Amino acid sequence: KIANVILDKDFSIGTVDSRIYGSFIEHIGRTVYGGIYEPNDPSSDENGFRRDVIALIKELNVPIIRYPGGNFVSGYNWEDGVGPRESRKRRLELAWNTVETNEFGLNEFMKWSKLANTDVIMAVNLGTRGVNEARELVEYCNHPSGTYLSDLRVSHGFKEPYAIKTWCLGNEQDNHPQIGYKTATEYGRIAAEAAKVMKWVDPRIELVACGSTNGNMPTFPQWDATVLEHTYDHIEYLSLHSYYWKKDGDTASYLASSVEMDAYIRSVISTCDYMKAKKRSKKTINLSFDEWNVTRQWGEDHFEPWSIAPPAGEHIYSLEDAIVGASMLISLLKHADRIKIGCQAQLVNFIAPIMARPGGEAWRQTIFYPYLHASLYGRGTVLNPVISSPLSDCKEFTDVPLLETVSIWNKEMEALTIFALNRDQVDSLQFKCDVRNFAGYKIIEHIVLENQDDQDASNTFENPNQVLPHNKGNASIDNGMITAELFKLSWHVIRLA
Ligand code: AHR
Repeated sequence: KIANVILDKDFSIGTVDSRIYGSFIEHIGRTVYGGIYEPNDPSSDENGFRRDVIALIKELNVPIIRYPGGNFVSGYNWEDGVGPRESRKRRLELAWNTVETNEFGLNEFMKWSKLANTDVIMAVNLGTRGVNEARELVEYCNHPSGTYLSDLRVSHGFKEPYAIKTWCLGNEQDNHPQIGYKTATEYGRIAAEAAKVMKWVDPRIELVACGSTNGNMPTFPQWDATVLEHTYDHIEYLSLHSYYWKKDGDTASYLASSVEMDAYIRSVISTCDYMKAKKRSKKTINLSFDEWNVTRQWGEDHFEPWSIAPPAGEHIYSLEDAIVGASMLISLLKHADRIKIGCQAQLVNFIAPIMARPGGEAWRQTIFYPYLHASLYGRGTVLNPVISSPLSDCKEFTDVPLLETVSIWNKEMEALTIFALNRDQVDSLQFKCDVRNFAGYKIIEHIVLENQDDQDASNTFENPNQVLPHNKGNASIDNGMITAELFKLSWHVIRLA
């Protein structure tokens, strides 16, 4: 089987916004407590922040992290998590049926984010709360001083305003189980009013309105259109969320998940542009894919109600999962002209690339690696390739390309990175790529993530090195033509400079 690609410097899709390599930390499972914050862990610093977890996050070079939820934010009072710890209130946390101690809150997260070298996307609660609390939170975070709320922040020990630029207007408000579910009109109105006053408090901020919870919601894409009808003039981004998992043991359809993701992205872009035309607007709404990942069937965790930070969603991922995750990253990059923010959900312990054992070490799951490679080498201009790949059919999709690929050209560094994967479970794919337009470029590395013996191989605490990338790929270049063997079910990073 042979796949052909042609790349040309002059044919580009757009520039990668580094925020596309963002992530997500919610008060859920052991993401915060036991994940980034564990005062009793031997690796923790004087703030109780796990140093081993921070080191892995820095390795990923995560540019931005969404906080504090997710479904959690729809019932959250941010005031509960600020000020002296001894007077913080314990609350029933209704999104995940737990008790929230509020030992860790906004200021701890902001302090932690600096140590982790990352920016923050802050979400406001538009489930149980509204316009007033949203503007108050912006004032607490971003106003320098001289008002009750800004001085409150200063009195809590944080003199400098945080200057948080990107804000989410609630979370998945179209989803019935969401705390404070709303119809599109109810949400659109409250989001527009919250947005208006949040920007009055700080005109420098950018806002993300909730699109549909996913592309299979019964109200998609009308929800998105109605929300845009109300919010168009006030926001910069519309959100998308997608999680994929293997259903009924159907591996082939699972491996083809990004076909659905591509279609979903195209539909949301069309919806935004339809509203642009309808409003005769000059403004373009971009996309914030602020939750995406592979996962397992939801709802398999069972914990005592009202536990504190139970080990929820601690799925161990396989090579197969890493390939699907990689294909989702390629989908995001293929739409880099419109997707400006992406958040792999979530960063630690809950369905995460990084696992942190209670009181023990942190390790990298299989899905860590494509994320790492994309974040390290995928910054620059996304090229618009001509691709011809063998196709296959599966239960859910027809004409699924066996090759998924995207290439990034970093003009300043004179570097070209080709990301490619073979989703065929049986055969290798001969990869041929015409880069004659990149005269003088040589292959400097060909990284491969694979396990030819076992596609279910995974990394665990006991054996964290079962699925590791190596750089023994066989890519070669002759007269501007790259050839490489893409083994069955494998992920590739071919780097040229
Ligand atoms: O990431 C876990 C949950 O998935 C988030 O809280 C919610 O927004 C989504 O449905």
